[in-house]
Amino acid sequence: MPVESLGSRSWRCALLAAGVLLAGAAGAARAAQPALLVGTAWYPEQWPQSRWAKDLELMQAAHLDVVRVGEFAWSTMEPREGVYDFTWLDRAIAQAARHHIYVVIGTPTAAPPAWLTSKYPDTLRVDEDGRRDEHGNRQQFSFSSPRYRELARQIASRLAARYGHNPDVIGWQIDNELGPPSFDAETRRQFHAWLQRKYGTIANLNRRWTTAYWSETYDRFDEIPMHSKDENPGLLLEFMRFVSDTWASYAANQVSAIRAHADPRQFITTNTLGWGSQFDQQVMHRQLDMAAWDEYVPDGHFAWLEQAVQHDLVRGYKNADFWVMETQPAFVNWWPVNSALPPYAMRELAWQAVGHGANAVLYWQWRSALNGQEQYHGTLLGPDGTPVPAYGVVRGIAADMARAAAALAGTSPRSEVAMLQSYDSRWAIDLQRHQADFRVVKEFGAFYAPLERYAQSVDVISPDAPLGRYRLVVAPALNVLSAAQARHLADYVRAGGHLVLGPRSGMKDADDALWPQRQPGPLASLLGGRVEEYYALDSSVPLAGVLGSGQAAVWAEALSAHDPDTQVLMRYGKSNGWLDGKAAVITRKVGKGSITYIGAWLDPALMQNVLDDFLRAAHVTPLIPGVSESVEVCQRVGAGRRVWILINHGDDAHTIRLPSPAMPVLAGDADATTASVTLAPHSVHVLETPLK
Ligand code: GLA
Repeated sequence: MPVESLGSRSWRCALLAAGVLLAGAAGAARAAQPALLVGTAWYPEQWPQSRWAKDLELMQAAHLDVVRVGEFAWSTMEPREGVYDFTWLDRAIAQAARHHIYVVIGTPTAAPPAWLTSKYPDTLRVDEDGRRDEHGNRQQFSFSSPRYRELARQIASRLAARYGHNPDVIGWQIDNELGPPSFDAETRRQFHAWLQRKYGTIANLNRRWTTAYWSETYDRFDEIPMHSKDENPGLLLEFMRFVSDTWASYAANQVSAIRAHADPRQFITTNTLGWGSQFDQQVMHRQLDMAAWDEYVPDGHFAWLEQAVQHDLVRGYKNADFWVMETQPAFVNWWPVNSALPPYAMRELAWQAVGHGANAVLYWQWRSALNGQEQYHGTLLGPDGTPVPAYGVVRGIAADMARAAAALAGTSPRSEVAMLQSYDSRWAIDLQRHQADFRVVKEFGAFYAPLERYAQSVDVISPDAPLGRYRLVVAPALNVLSAAQARHLADYVRAGGHLVLGPRSGMKDADDALWPQRQPGPLASLLGGRVEEYYALDSSVPLAGVLGSGQAAVWAEALSAHDPDTQVLMRYGKSNGWLDGKAAVITRKVGKGSITYIGAWLDPALMQNVLDDFLRAAHVTPLIPGVSESVEVCQRVGAGRRVWILINHGDDAHTIRLPSPAMPVLAGDADATTASVTLAPHSVHVLETPLK
């Protein structure tokens, strides 16, 4: 198909206009919801209703399509127990609709009202030191409290009954940034019941946790302590899994209340924290329709790879597109120095999110409450109700996104490379770092950066996810490897896949107990080699081999190869005596596939060399070859189109030759297909081309 016949903007506009028409609350006909939305967190309850029209006018003028409301408004929705007032929310939603602004409702359960806390102090959270929380902040509830859950269910039900069929309400956010567990007596009772369900008998638990160690042997489940540190590793890992299940059931309580009333077209999500590890997002997201996260760059220094990996992580919760539910208008208020993102970085940040699969970007927040804990946070309006400088930047971003929405409709990122991220492994390492600098997120990033730079698209998925469509799968530190996961990975390799394991992989079983085979545990026989010993490093160690040479730091493992087919690719040079001359990287071909073990945390240049080699061997090709390291290439594919989002994060201009001619989508670009693009410093280009 000639490019011209695809890319006509007027064709797309006509299609949009002819799309599904929704009747707005005000009775006005509305165009179909755009595929890409820009919005803001709006708190109408903090302002007189006479002000709302002005707010909405300013939002519309900034091309905003969506507001998230309600997530802290419980005391306004239910000022006294059982006395509800939603009339203000009815009006806010109807008024927003008149300005063509959709609404996402947050259930208000992260901020219970004072009457609730006073009447039901048993709903309050208790911290690990036994201190019961008080009113005055937020998240002061206990996630396991049956009474709190009942109250939360009631308010969620009321909201869903009222707005579950409202055409202007497009989705629901459960609570807000779920996270801190409670250590109260009820939670402990539930922990014991959870353990009993899982282990059946106390003898089974004693065996799997090796409780003979330090006379930890238990006679009854209710003797088991509940802590997040300084305990048996088996207990600590199970506590985190219990916390994950408890947060998931906390959310499920509201999800089911909403589903009972809501139209299936309304999504249910919750806003998460990127790298946060307070619970397992894979467990949480089984029941949600869509993933969403709150993206902040608290120091204002945008490092594109550090943000990119988190988008990919969040996309992996559902293996689908997601939303950025919150991001900062220039700066936050919760960092030691809340330095502002430059205007160009706000634009790069927003488009990067879209490039990695976000279908909405919402700014937190519209306008600061005149009082309240977050007076210094970045906003779009000032306290006088008129725009601050970030408003203009967001307006520009939103205008461009409105223009690009039709091109991006029905498209998503697609990757040939996957990285495995396991909460079990992350917790297990964090609980026993052995080398204080072994930060799992940093080590993950050390593998991610070269993969993303080369392949320009990486999925970050669970070790249990289907792997068949990936040419290369990399697990940077898969410390906890269950027998089932090992079988899953071995099947992938035997079917022709290429698997690369990083240091500390395959050390523990699902109970956080050491695998007796040594690392990588049940994969050692497939690898035809193993880890002889691990070493925490306080200085770097040289290594060299067919993949180049360089340094290892923080962690190094001495490997051995037992199988005649297992090849040593790199060896350590002279170092601590234990590592001298020992294998550092080994690999074994298995049919058309392969399994490789990298035993050390490599320096960035060597890591790039090594991973480039595996990428090439696995026949992974860059989306657009030969681009500078400061240029980010994102691609979304679908609906017969390929859309490139090219972001120059650097200070120099770059010209990029496209693999096929494409039509620029954003304003200011030529309205004709082009075979190459010149990216000015810190510029963004969006281009579409037919999928061949
Ligand atoms: C979080 C919360 C918001 C707000 C912002 C400030 O993301 O969800 O309510 O406090 O932080 O950055």
